[in-house]
Amino acid sequence: MPESTIFITGTDTEVGKTWVSAALLQLLGRHGAALGCKPVSAGQTHPQPGEAPFAPFNEDVRWLQACSVPAVGDAPLLDAQVGPIQLDEPCAPHIAAARQGLSWDQDAAPLRSTVLGAVEALAARSRWLVVEGVGGWAVPLAQGWDSAALARDVCPPGSTGGVVLVVGLRLGCLNHALLTAQAVAASGLRLLGWVAKSGPQPMAHEAENLATLDALLPAPRLGHIPWLGDADVGHALRYDAAALRALAMRAASHLDQARLLRALGS
Ligand SMILES: Nc1ncnc2c1ncn2[C@@H]1O[C@H](COP(=O)(O)OP(=O)(O)OP(=O)(O)O)[C@@H](O)[C@H]1O
Ligand SMILES: [Mg+2]
Repeated sequence: MPESTIFITGTDTEVGKTWVSAALLQLLGRHGAALGCKPVSAGQTHPQPGEAPFAPFNEDVRWLQACSVPAVGDAPLLDAQVGPIQLDEPCAPHIAAARQGLSWDQDAAPLRSTVLGAVEALAARSRWLVVEGVGGWAVPLAQGWDSAALARDVCPPGSTGGVVLVVGLRLGCLNHALLTAQAVAASGLRLLGWVAKSGPQPMAHEAENLATLDALLPAPRLGHIPWLGDADVGHALRYDAAALRALAMRAASHLDQARLLRALGS
């Protein structure tokens, strides 16, 4: 079983959860097997006309597969192991599921057992398991099961792991970050830390916003990942796993490794 399972949540969708997950995998992979999982994803990338053929894939799953670091002698992870449930449409998962004829709105049990089975299989092979959530903390998944309940299932209260919150630095992030931290605490889970993530446009008064988050969030800041304007993410995702790892390492260079290991109790 892993020493720690780290659940990555965010202030919203598209805030940088996958970047932070990939960076953590590359950083923690220096200290032992670090495996990534995106239990439920929505949105498949298809080839454009004129592009060399590749099979449709989910971008988050591809990132986490490329950046996972299996134990010495262990096999690389398969796409289906990293992403056991990959829905077609890029929309809220329960809506994407309904549009595919899946009856998650009636019964969460089959989904939950598939997801937790996949997570447990990876847990058995890892020292660090990084599980990327879906959208933000309260995203519904199925009847009676949402992203917060998924987090409780993978790192239950009292376990050594916990939650890392990715704060997308944009107007509104203070409210989203503080509400999410409150909801994590109300779920009985530990907030290990938070990571600031810049988007393509610098946030107005970024330093003041960061200082406010430092003062009000009940966990340490583990880093601030800038926008890497020269990154050709689309090409790397399609053709170049090594380039994805290099981007993750660049992101990881903005994380405080010592603080992270302290938060994990290692
Ligand atoms: N530093 C960066 N430099 C260039 N592109 C970036 C950078 N960070 C993120 N991106 C792009 O911004 C988007 C958001 O990042 P990311 O995919 O990590 O968000 P997310 O929170 O995981 O989203 P989702 O909710 O869809 O899982 C992606 O399209 C990604 O390729
Ligand atoms: Mg993501």
